[in-house]
Amino acid sequence: MSTTTRVLSCIQPTGDVHLGNYLGALRNWERGQHECDAFHGIVDLHALTVTEEPGVVGEATLSLAAMLFAVGLDPDVATVFAQSHVPEHSELAWIMQCNVAYGELSRMTQFKDKTTKREGQFISAGLFTYPALQAADILLYDTAEVPVGDDQRQHIEITRDIAIRFNHRFGETFVLPEAVTPAAGARVMSLQNPTAKMSKSDDSSAGCVEIVDEPSVVMKKFKRAVTDSDTGPDAVRFDREAKPGVANLLEIHAAVTGRTPEEIAAEFEQYGALKVATGEAVLAVLDPIRTRYHELMDDRGELARLLRVGALKAREVASTTLERTHRAIGMLPA
Ligand code: TRP
Repeated sequence: MSTTTRVLSCIQPTGDVHLGNYLGALRNWERGQHECDAFHGIVDLHALTVTEEPGVVGEATLSLAAMLFAVGLDPDVATVFAQSHVPEHSELAWIMQCNVAYGELSRMTQFKDKTTKREGQFISAGLFTYPALQAADILLYDTAEVPVGDDQRQHIEITRDIAIRFNHRFGETFVLPEAVTPAAGARVMSLQNPTAKMSKSDDSSAGCVEIVDEPSVVMKKFKRAVTDSDTGPDAVRFDREAKPGVANLLEIHAAVTGRTPEEIAAEFEQYGALKVATGEAVLAVLDPIRTRYHELMDDRGELARLLRVGALKAREVASTTLERTHRAIGMLPA
């Protein structure tokens, strides 16, 4: 990968960002922006597939943008934009829909999962055509690499299939993207149920540390973290199988200090002390992010300006690709 390799990551504006998102992904975005030509889309149009109330999506988009800038994405380095600010996404999505088969969309596992979960509720056609919009997101930017988890690989596959079909029908137009495995982030588990990943849909909010949680709340969550009942000089040790709760605290502690879980384990004998020290180490990292986040949320003019910078940069690329696409098809110029 070089600094000119175009890499696109997108994230849906749904809900608050938690410590697992930060240590698992966002922190790497901040580091990675200097190693590639990074584009980061806040995909608000994708969120519309499940939006049924006014006002929610815009606020969530703004809040996520503030968080991305607060963790250190630099608008002069990376291109951070809201998907709906770049109308080429919607325009290319229609062309994508006309180049993907009904059968292909029906086979998407995410579509099947989501519709099963929403049984009895409103299922929008957007949930079905979602991959066409995602293909547009990716192909608009001549994206070389898309870092994704396993749940998104099928979406990258279908994007490649659409691009291959389009190029075959209308001539070489799109760059074929590769799905790449993101730089390994920390695996953060729920503080209450340490064998499950930290998640905002966690049964109890006590298991999930939000980046915007006040320090007293963060400390309380760490103090209440599930550990073990055995005691003794060896109670605090790094053993994911036998002691998942303790291992999770040690891994979080390691991730925020750059040390190893074993080193940290050697310094503690009691769970209580480990919990407090881990909470404090986490806060040392989260405090400046939360402060910057609130500053930005209190200065919406500045946030809007930063997003305009991103949208302008994104549109420059996207409009060229859309034009090329229209030309390849032979649409009548306006
Ligand atoms: N579907 C992705 C998810 O749910 C979000 C997404 C939309 C995306 N467009 C994208 C991811 C383009 C990578 C590239 O996580």
